[in-house]
Parts: sequence; C-alpha cells; structure tokens
Amino acid sequence: MLQNKNILIGITAGIAAYKIPLLVRLLVKENAKVKVILTKDATQFVTPQTLSVLSKNEVIVDFFDEKNNWNSHVQYAEWADLMVVAPLTANTLSKMANGVCDNLLLATYLSAKCPVMIAPAMDLDMYQHATTTENLKKLETIGTKIIPVESGELASGLVGEGRMAEPETIFKAIEKFFDVKLPLTGKTAVVNAGPTYEAIDPVRFIGNRSSGKMGICIADRLAELGAKVTLILGPTHNKPQQKSVKVIDVNTAEEMFSQTTSEAKQADIVVCAAAVADYKAKHVSDSKIKKDKGELNIELEKTKDILAELGNTKAAKQCLVGFALETENVEEYAKQKLTQKKLDMIVANSARNAYGVVFGSDSNQVTVIDKNNNLSKFELLSKEDTAKKIVSTIMNYIGIKA
Ligand code: CTP
Repeated sequence: MLQNKNILIGITAGIAAYKIPLLVRLLVKENAKVKVILTKDATQFVTPQTLSVLSKNEVIVDFFDEKNNWNSHVQYAEWADLMVVAPLTANTLSKMANGVCDNLLLATYLSAKCPVMIAPAMDLDMYQHATTTENLKKLETIGTKIIPVESGELASGLVGEGRMAEPETIFKAIEKFFDVKLPLTGKTAVVNAGPTYEAIDPVRFIGNRSSGKMGICIADRLAELGAKVTLILGPTHNKPQQKSVKVIDVNTAEEMFSQTTSEAKQADIVVCAAAVADYKAKHVSDSKIKKDKGELNIELEKTKDILAELGNTKAAKQCLVGFALETENVEEYAKQKLTQKKLDMIVANSARNAYGVVFGSDSNQVTVIDKNNNLSKFELLSKEDTAKKIVSTIMNYIGIKA
C-alpha cells in the first residue's frame, strides 16, 4: 500500500522528535520513499545522520548545506505525495496557521500542494491555550489532517493531553490515508495523446496543431480515480498533473504505434486521443533539402492505423476508445470509425464547431457514442471537465460506479 509513496516528514523541536526514527523505519520497511526536513532546533533532539541512514536519503535542515549547495524547498514539496509534520510544536503550528515562512520546513510546507498531516506535541498548558485551539482549527479548515495528541505524562512532569501520538499510531494514520479505495483501483489504462512529427529531412517535419491536452486530461482523470495509467505522448510541452501517470515520450507515428500496441496488451482501458499523422515522407533526406530545385514534391506514404490494429487484436474484456475529429457530418463519420475500427466507444468532436477550434484550446464540446448506439452529448466544457464526462461514460460502459 505504501510502495513507492513519497512521504516527506518535517520534524520540529519537540522532545518527541527522538521517536521519529522509528516512524521512518516503519515507513521504509513498507517500501515507502521517505525524505526528512528538520528545523535547526530539532537537530538538538534527533540527529540528521540517524534519519539519513534510516530513510536512505539526505536529510536537510537549512536552505544552504555546508558545501553551500541550495536545498530547493520547491523540489521537496513537488516530490511529496504526503507531508507529515511530527512532532509539531506550538511555535511551528502557529507559523503554519499564519503563513509564516522563516525556515526551510515552513517554506516547503507553503509550497506543498500535497495533503498535509500533523502530529502536534506540546505541554498541557500550551496545548490547552485558546490560540493553539484556534490554530489547529484553522489548519483543519484548510484540509490538514490532524493526528490527535495523546494523554499521559509530559516531559515537563505535568500529566494530561499534549503527548505526540506514538510512531505506530502515526504510521497507521499514514497507511489509512493511502488506503482510500478509488473506483478504478486495480485497473490498468493506456492513453495516447499529442501530435506526431514525421521527418522530411534533419530539420523539417510534417506535424499538426494538437496540444495533447484532451488526452492528458483523460490520463489525469483515470489516474485520479485510481487506475494505473501509462500515457504515450507525442511532442508537446503539456504534461500530466498526476504524478502516478507513467509518461512515454514518442515523436513519430511509428513510435506511437509500437509503444501503444505494446502497452495496450494488458490494459483494461485504452484511449487513443493522439492526432497521429496519417502520412509520412516515403524517403527521409539525410541532409537538409536545398531550395535550388524549384518545385518540390514529397512522396508520402500511409502510416499504420494504431486504433484499427488495436480493434483487430483487442481482448474481449478491454474497453477501446477512439476519437474522431471531423469538419462535417461529425456523428455519422464518427459512427463509421466506431464500426470500422471495432471500438467500444468513440468520442466525436468537430474541428469546426460553433465555439471555434479544438486544437490548442482549453475547452471542448464532444459527443460520446458507444457500440450499442448510446449517445451522450456534452456541452462546451473545459478539457478537464470534458475528461471527467468521458471517463464517467467509460466507467458506466464497463459497469463501474463513479
Ligand atoms: N488514429 C490512429 N492511428 C492513425 C490515425 C488515427 O490510431 N494512424 C486514431 C486516432 O488516435 C483517433 C482515431 O484514429 O482515435 C480517428 O482519427 P481521425 O484523425 O479522426 O481519423 P482517421 O482514422 O485518421 O481518418 P480520417 O483522417 O480519414 O478522418
């Protein structure tokens, strides 16, 4: 369950910091990837060396290390699937609640887009103080998961609430966090997206205006719902948001063909959204073609149709989805492609719809038609929302409740 999950642990200066090596050990044993950031004062309670050995990663404390290398809080924040601050002192709690950013741990916290979990630890009176209650509420309101303090003897000798939850309890909370059963958990999906570039000579190619956004949004949505997604992506600067999406970069129709057909073999869901070139140059010139010839004719030959190949070879249980980009008779041509390429479903969109051009834009208006002739027409939506509709239609078709 924790396999390859990126867990970033922030340690602040509470006596309970000495228990965190055990938490790191428990996580690493479950194959989680663990990185640790300490505040400077926390190094008084637990050594970076211990944490580094246990986490098998460098441990960072300050923006600059002793060799004057810069530790990028942004990189750490981007890397994490979950950030856990334990123990969390009243001081750091207050800073987190108020956006204070005066050390590396806080800068990382403010940069993190991943969920955050906290395990507060402080003395009884500090824990009961109205500002602490207020700060905890504030963090809870913005979605921070709080691992409740425990009651018992505190370092000061006082007895009551304020002890950090035991490492085993924090570990279980982390396990529970990653155990959310999503509707597509256990399903494998392959999506192709983007244009292809077919070389004419070393500097020129035949391409198209596809941005790949629609397919990328579909890959993101499938991954968000728990599917294991591989995205075969033609040349575009757009990238998926979901870290779990495995991206295979390709350039040509031939590369798109071999990667998609090989990845699709085991997939439950295959979505071909790529704008694959239909033709490529029959002969690619080794050197740059000079303009001294007057007229230039480039002989073109057909590329392989990936979707048709997948339709011919697909397993019965696989759901194969294609796209149809048309300028006229959109639904009619889409239905023809659905039958000819033996698809389960086709997403029809017009390159010339009432709203303007589809390629490169952030919105789309599509109609999804399945092989049982069910037709779902959606309004003009952002590509993210269109992807949600398409994925729900796929889930409906294969009998999975959203
Ligand atoms: N497609 C493919 N391999 C190709 C060409 C297209 O897999 N060599 C896929 C696209 O990814 C899309 C579907 O086929 O899912 C339809 O693509 P589209 O360009 O609309 O139609 P074509 O089949 O290329 O036919 P035409 O260009 O004549 O409309």
